[in-house]
Amino acid sequence: MLKITANTSKVYDILIGSNLIKDCGKYISEVVNPCKAMIVTDSNVGPLYADAVKEALCSAGFDVYIHTFEAGEKNKNIETVYNITLSLAENGFNRKDIVVALGGGVCGDMAGFASSIYMRGIRFIQVSTSILSDIDSSVGGKTGCDLPVGKNLIGAFHQPELVVIDTNVLTTLPKHFYNDGMGEAIKYGVIAPSDLMDKICDDIDIEQLIFECVDIKRKVVENDEKEQGERKLLNFGHTLGHAIEKYYNFDKYTHGEAVAIGMCMISDAAFANGYCDKTVGDKIRIACKRFSLPTECDAPIEELSKIALSDKKSTSSGIDFVLPRTVGKCEIVNIKKEDILPFLKKGIK
Ligand code: GLY
Repeated sequence: MLKITANTSKVYDILIGSNLIKDCGKYISEVVNPCKAMIVTDSNVGPLYADAVKEALCSAGFDVYIHTFEAGEKNKNIETVYNITLSLAENGFNRKDIVVALGGGVCGDMAGFASSIYMRGIRFIQVSTSILSDIDSSVGGKTGCDLPVGKNLIGAFHQPELVVIDTNVLTTLPKHFYNDGMGEAIKYGVIAPSDLMDKICDDIDIEQLIFECVDIKRKVVENDEKEQGERKLLNFGHTLGHAIEKYYNFDKYTHGEAVAIGMCMISDAAFANGYCDKTVGDKIRIACKRFSLPTECDAPIEELSKIALSDKKSTSSGIDFVLPRTVGKCEIVNIKKEDILPFLKKGIK
């Protein structure tokens, strides 16, 4: 088992290894005294792993409840969060009790958000079951849900007590989920100095890959927990990626696929505007293709730019874009509203 300790406003461990779910009760009891534990999971993951997590928690002395919601981004809304809090209240949970988020990013974000507002905040644990949540959303304390007008528009920073990443569960993931997660892995290879990009293109062991991505995220979040500066680097490829997801009504491209296209597009724009050389975009494309990730789409750049300007990350002074300088180094550059379309159009056909 590999372990990373995050030194944020809360200090917590991230455990990475095979078959950790079986013993997760033991790991959780090392950070939380036995109490009531609500496993929050979705209709895809619950049937596969909720019983195993329940058994592990019961053996460690926890009094265990399960709340299951309908899987899917379309259910990442305030009603689902409300139902989680209602379930906590109806089962007599108090501030000493815990929530255990069992699932991918949608589940972790909402279970974490429900924990942050229930009784003004109770503790929660992340038991992550997708590569996307393993290397991104389970770490760093961003929790929340969507509004009809945009993704993650309500939420809170609420750090978990522990993150458990069981690499064995990844074997039950269909291939495209695996590839989807690699979109975020490629992002880490571009934003931080390491040999990650080369390793991604070779046959890297999955446990080691998750470890290296999480460790990059840990450093960024430790330096800038509330995203005032450096943490924005984690949004590389995401400004256009989110716009792409939205343009296609979250139907055509998954998150990792949209981020892959977003990274290629913004690298082309960065090259055309003199921020980096062409090899950056070329390398990203090679890595994306290795995992069958798309590198372009037919959405007009005018539309993507419009959607980006309505995103929560857009301010009156424009948008902070993450632009690559080289593979391994990016810069946060504020581009004024009126300059965004010309900037993008210069590099994106
Ligand atoms: N997913 C980006 C962040 O955690 O800041």
